[in-house]
Amino acid sequence: MVGDTRINGTSFGCSAPLGVFDSGAGGLTVVKQIREILPNESVIYFGDTARVPYGPRPQAQVQEFSLQIARFLHEQGVKGIVIACNTATAASLEMLQSSFPGPVVGVIRPGAQGAFTAAGPNGRIGLIGTQGTVESGVYDKELAALGWERQLVKQACPDFVTLVEAGMVDDEGIQEATKRYMKIFHESPVDVLILGCTHFPLLSSYIEKELPGVVLVDPAVETVLVMKKMLEENGLKAASDSEATYKFFCSGDPSSFAKSVRMVLGPNDYVVEQAVL
Ligand code: DGL
Repeated sequence: MVGDTRINGTSFGCSAPLGVFDSGAGGLTVVKQIREILPNESVIYFGDTARVPYGPRPQAQVQEFSLQIARFLHEQGVKGIVIACNTATAASLEMLQSSFPGPVVGVIRPGAQGAFTAAGPNGRIGLIGTQGTVESGVYDKELAALGWERQLVKQACPDFVTLVEAGMVDDEGIQEATKRYMKIFHESPVDVLILGCTHFPLLSSYIEKELPGVVLVDPAVETVLVMKKMLEENGLKAASDSEATYKFFCSGDPSSFAKSVRMVLGPNDYVVEQAVL
């Protein structure tokens, strides 16, 4: 367990940006939804590309990294934080909610809610994620709390993270990994599959081809809707005439991260800088 988790200082006003973080490029899929659903909100993103992947790391280490990033985002003046990483949500949501002075939202509860809505109480649900997320049992707990009483079919897919971080250039490698990882869902079929890692929505077209008819749930949409509600409830929503700005930090090579930003968010002139924590 990490030591002192306090993040000193107050929260910021409605014109302040939202802080968003992930181990790497996956959380950009959440930024994409923020841009759609909350078009007036500015974003400061941190991708921990020097330390990706988080999936195989012990929970205590992921907590330590999450706290470092939350402190960095607080110094940047963010008014709220979206933990755009399932692994970090599983390890650190409660810790960050009690240490950060503004609203903090993770992707797992909204993802479980989205899956439950899509599947209903009798539907079969599957989960793909990192080793950390799958082993944490957090999705199982959230689904049980919603009244879903079946067994979650789960598969850790670590190679997916590597393939996305490498820029998704290895088409054959992605197809091979998809076949290998989706095998379990041919043996134990599901109606709904939770994309329980923020890197995975980028591979949706491959997964859909392998599992036709299965409804894929990307927790990002529900997550952003939860943040929207929290901003409204706390009087922190940006004014409807404010122009959103986006700034991206990464702990690794900024030029390769800039490529990921363009891959997910389209051609843009967003600022990408390296920040070593
Ligand atoms: N994108 C992350 C998640 O949602 C983590 C991937 C990794 O670093 O292993 O879990």
